[in-house]
Amino acid sequence: MRRLCLAALASFACADTSEPAADDADTTAAGSDDDGGSSTTGEAATVFFHEDVAPIFAAACNGCHREGGVAPFSLQDYDTAAMWAGSIRTAVAARTMPPFNVTADGSCNEFLDARWLTPDELDTIVAWVDQGTARGDAQLGVPAPPEPGVLGGQRQLALQTPADYQPINEDVAAAPADDYQCFLLDPGFEQDAFLVGFDVQPGNDRIVHHVLAFDVDPAATSLAGGRNDALLEQLDAQSPEPGWDCFNAAGDGVMVQGVPITWAPGTGATNFPAGTGIRLRAGHKLVVQMHYHLAGDDGSDQTAITLALADGVEREAHAALMDGFLATLLGTPAELPPGRTDASFEWSVRLRDIPNLGMGADVVEAELLGVLPHMHQRGRRMWIDLDRAAGPACGARIPQWDYDWQQAYYYEQPIPVSMEDRLHVRCEWDTTDSSEPVLPGLGTDAEMCLAGVYLVERG
Ligand code: HEC
Repeated sequence: MRRLCLAALASFACADTSEPAADDADTTAAGSDDDGGSSTTGEAATVFFHEDVAPIFAAACNGCHREGGVAPFSLQDYDTAAMWAGSIRTAVAARTMPPFNVTADGSCNEFLDARWLTPDELDTIVAWVDQGTARGDAQLGVPAPPEPGVLGGQRQLALQTPADYQPINEDVAAAPADDYQCFLLDPGFEQDAFLVGFDVQPGNDRIVHHVLAFDVDPAATSLAGGRNDALLEQLDAQSPEPGWDCFNAAGDGVMVQGVPITWAPGTGATNFPAGTGIRLRAGHKLVVQMHYHLAGDDGSDQTAITLALADGVEREAHAALMDGFLATLLGTPAELPPGRTDASFEWSVRLRDIPNLGMGADVVEAELLGVLPHMHQRGRRMWIDLDRAAGPACGARIPQWDYDWQQAYYYEQPIPVSMEDRLHVRCEWDTTDSSEPVLPGLGTDAEMCLAGVYLVERG
């Protein structure tokens, strides 16, 4: 029974209804009843590290799990891989590794550059562990990780965070070994340009956990009331080190237009879907949020962010963020009951009514090219759907939200929509850590239920 479930783990339904088969050893392809990890004879083994497993690790893991990579250990050598076998089995079966928050098995879309093991790959890794991690032919070595992608665009602009920034352990409950620091980067555009892709080169791979860049209009009114640029100066001045603390997006109160760049280790160069790009307006600035995950003797960092730019694009993308949960703060705030493993909130919006989309009022037919889901640490599950005149469409399924992996997800096949259709979002949180109702908000103790959309005009 487990076996069936394992093959089907790729589907949300199965993952949702059964515990991960972590400690069951009863799933080997060979039907061995050896309990795994102890077989050194290789007698029953049909799956070998060098022949079968290393190529999967190389393609799906070693972008991060390599010497000097962001992951805490390398999967490029047999001994280390074998030592981690138990955790590897648990992580792949539960689909917490490779990190990819949305299901990408076709049941609710397939995604560009999906880090998602096929059922065969998953079964191979599990069988290798259960059969006792046979080495196979060491001469075969381990294939190299995939080449990083090549950035497109007509030109590139490299921006850098301040030199020798020394992350500081913020020691807040929600982020015990983390530093969220924002820096203002000025692309210096005198005319609008289109962002068609980006790349991020962390100075210190071991600690750079994710990088977001927010599009900020200095002249816009901040959530604190004054102008954004005055607030940014104030935040910077208040902080003795370069930049400012910013667990909350671009910093407390900073009004953002969007998040054109979302990068996590292993992402490589990202090109937006072909022919599309996001308008970066003349005079706007980027606020880069660096999330450092600290390990001890970490040293400093200076990260480079390369923008791939074009003067024009075939189809201008309209990217915007919306959070119907946060929006209740404008009236009677929604509250999540404490002590629940499935506290939930749902909201929906007509696509046309999403703020800051910048899509012409006459546009009716569009395509949804991608989504950006976001919750805070109590977030567990999320459903993004489209209520379309043409029939319902699944936007994304997130069976186990992991706050540490923030990214946008772009579809292999865009979803045709009308601007009259509705986006429908449901979030579920675990509030068992709280004895008070949990409120919406940007801060560490509050929660969010945000969806970003990446839309283009159709036709
Ligand atoms: C995008 C980068 C990335 C990829 C790809 C990746 N990992 Fe990881 N992995 C990490 C990081 C970073 C950690 C440290 C824990 C964390 O921050 O989530 C980790 C931790 C782990 C752990 C420790 C236990 C745990 O779950 O935290 C295991 C086991 C693991 N990874 C296995 C794998 C395997 C096997 C693959 C490929 C099938 C893989 N990882 C792909 C980045 C990655």
